[in-house]
Amino acid sequence: MIIAPSLLAADFSRLAKEVRRTSKSGADWLHLDIMDGHFVPNISFGPAVVKAVRPFTKLFFDVHLMCSKPEILLEPFAKAGADEMIIHVELDEQVEPLIWKIKSLGKKVGLAVNPPTTISKVEPFLDKIDLLLVMTVNPGFGGQEFIHETLPKIQQAEAWRREKNLRYQISVDGGINFQTAAECARAGADTFVAGTSLFGQRSLKAAVTKMRKIANANDPAFADLKV
Ligand code: DX5
Ligand code: ZN
Repeated sequence: MIIAPSLLAADFSRLAKEVRRTSKSGADWLHLDIMDGHFVPNISFGPAVVKAVRPFTKLFFDVHLMCSKPEILLEPFAKAGADEMIIHVELDEQVEPLIWKIKSLGKKVGLAVNPPTTISKVEPFLDKIDLLLVMTVNPGFGGQEFIHETLPKIQQAEAWRREKNLRYQISVDGGINFQTAAECARAGADTFVAGTSLFGQRSLKAAVTKMRKIANANDPAFADLKV
């Protein structure tokens, strides 16, 4: 189980401190949301900011590109310190070449699918990716409410992984809190991106620990766990 706090919900006026705080929280990854003001109606930050915070942690950098033209950004983010780059399946015919480009840069590949997009769109790429990101809100903003209709997509992703004997991670992103993380874990998710629900707590460490317990509770070995 991977817990990936999303930097979007951190205090931007003290980013380095927030990154260090995440590092000490016991989180596995740092999720970095890149918004271009075109693919989504918001702008976040770019490679220069990723590069600036990179020295403050050894955490795995999970870079989520909500961008119409990721091809111009892959190299800059790779150089800035990304460990994985996630592109969106809604980019259609661009998806395959983008996957190969990310691989050629020596980085892990993620593929994201938005709530209105059918999950069948990702199927042709499943054997080429390291992670499938099921968006559980419409991307663009933190703090939105979890869309329950996305749960069957997680189940389908899990079923495919089993049937096809593949190993991609199943990540969920948007509106993930202690309640919805449990629902996603039951549906088959193993990677939990959460902004507001984690950074909103006084102790990020306690929040990460709690979310990990909830995610693991899906595992029969933790069935009796009380959180
Ligand atoms: C949404 C982003 C998310 C966002 C999640 O567009 O992709 O990663 O940070 O934020 P919360 O957890 O607040 O919904
Ligand atoms: Zn994201």
